[in-house]
Amino acid sequence: MRQILLSSVLLLGSPLLAQTVDVNLTAAPGTVNLGPGYPAEPAWLYGGTLPGQVIRATQGQTLRVHFRNLLPEPTTVHFHGQPSTLGMDGMEGLSRPATAPGEEFRYEIRNLQSGTYWFHPHDANHHMQLDMGLYGVLIVDPPSPSLDPAYDVEQVIVLDDWNASSTGGTYTGPLLNGKTSLGQQTITVSPGQKLRLRILNAAATTHFVVALDGHPLTVTHTDGNRIQPLTVQSIPIGIGERYDAIVDCTNPGVWSLAVSTLQNRAATVVRGIVRYTGQTGPDPSPAYVPPNLSTGSLLSYAQLASYWPATTPITTTPNRTYPVQLGMQMGGGGIVYTINGQAWPNVTAMPVAFGDVVQFDLATAMGAGMLHPMHLHGHSVQLMGTAGGTLYPPIKDTVLVRGAGQPGGTISVQWRADNPGRWLYHCHDLVHMANGMMTLVDYQGDRDGDGLADVVDMEPLRDWPVLTVPDHEMAFHPGGAGNLSLQWQPGQWFLVYVALQELAAPLVLPPYGEQMLPPGGCSLLASGTVPAAGVAAVPYALPADPALSGFRLVLQALAGSTLPGGMRLSTDQAFRVL
Ligand code: C2O
Ligand code: CU
Repeated sequence: MRQILLSSVLLLGSPLLAQTVDVNLTAAPGTVNLGPGYPAEPAWLYGGTLPGQVIRATQGQTLRVHFRNLLPEPTTVHFHGQPSTLGMDGMEGLSRPATAPGEEFRYEIRNLQSGTYWFHPHDANHHMQLDMGLYGVLIVDPPSPSLDPAYDVEQVIVLDDWNASSTGGTYTGPLLNGKTSLGQQTITVSPGQKLRLRILNAAATTHFVVALDGHPLTVTHTDGNRIQPLTVQSIPIGIGERYDAIVDCTNPGVWSLAVSTLQNRAATVVRGIVRYTGQTGPDPSPAYVPPNLSTGSLLSYAQLASYWPATTPITTTPNRTYPVQLGMQMGGGGIVYTINGQAWPNVTAMPVAFGDVVQFDLATAMGAGMLHPMHLHGHSVQLMGTAGGTLYPPIKDTVLVRGAGQPGGTISVQWRADNPGRWLYHCHDLVHMANGMMTLVDYQGDRDGDGLADVVDMEPLRDWPVLTVPDHEMAFHPGGAGNLSLQWQPGQWFLVYVALQELAAPLVLPPYGEQMLPPGGCSLLASGTVPAAGVAAVPYALPADPALSGFRLVLQALAGSTLPGGMRLSTDQAFRVL
């Protein structure tokens, strides 16, 4: 299904670690201008913009995101669809604690999958930080352009349903790239170009349909995964889904890139503008409904087939099959949305074992107006019953389950349990999610034999040592004391260094990994041996100097290993800025 194990093994066997991409990412309150006629609105933003900054990397690189939380509440970053390790998955309370206000945390995503992905918070309290504007696109290019379809120019299209009751602003309604129809930045193309659209639905509760007047769309990827090209007039896109489509720009003019809701294709709710160079006609009216939006052929899951043959074909004998029955009921505090009759957090996790092929049979008793975009963390799933059959099943990370009795109202998926941990499986409709529609998949066993069960092990394949800094409020105030923990193979030894600064760019030190601390500018904090439990506690105490106005604590562990590849430098760390 993917090469996660293979590439882990390659990394272990190789003296050089993958090249890294370093990105700074800040979440902070800000303001947005949604378009003419609307006052500047409050929002929470990544990098100060709506949508947030685009992060770009190439498959094979390690993505290292230096995240800083300037929000008034704890937050996390979840890289939706990327098979990160559990500790980097950004589900508050499940992966690791949230990053407190003022604090920093460094996310590291190895084994990046190529395609169009995205990132957003996964705060445990109400799951609505995303709805305040915290979302951004992650583009991962394949290692060679020959693995992508040909295109000349690209454009990210992010859809949202802005809600004044979440933001405290005045506008409620759909947005395309953070703007209303009247605020759009024109997309300019030249005749003969191939325009690649990378479309994301980042909305809280709205599923959309997208069409480009005067042009069919050739869909090439779903949720980042390449499919056999499929030409349609319009694309339905559920919350959390992505579609990449290529437009052959062979029809000069000024065209509406029109968006409707899935429920009512007869009304354009927001639109972008595609203008060919040299065309001087007026912008299309925001209300205009292109015929291909209202009545053109609509992409369906049944048509999808993967571009590449499956490494794990669909089987009639999966190791485990679970029903996933989506429901709702009245609870004490209002409507509760359930999976197999259970509402978060009172759920029974579905056990799996490493290597299993797991089948989920999704079904709903709810009607056509109540759709559920079901998203599995840490893995992708293969759709069954499509044009791809058993050998070319399309791969997705978010699957929109339609209403009962409708096509798509029942759907089965299979996925390979190749990423140990404890993973969330949930509906991406934020209201459903906040009101119960989440459950868990638990890996049984202790894959790396470090004494930590896979379900609580942040690095269950034990490629790297993990250094963890407590994230709670008081841990790093002047006079603070506590324990760092170093998690790795029992019996391995380690040295923990501390410095006030890290290198601007990592130094590659084969065969140890990448040095992040200034050579000579760091001091030894502790040394020891990882005990049988797999976690060593490293005590620290900070000076109780009231004049201390701030510091940035940078930690790195050098760990010895009997594993192939020799010693490692841990690169996971968190630190606090006062
Ligand atoms: Cu888009 Cu649980 O995530
Ligand atoms: Cu739902």
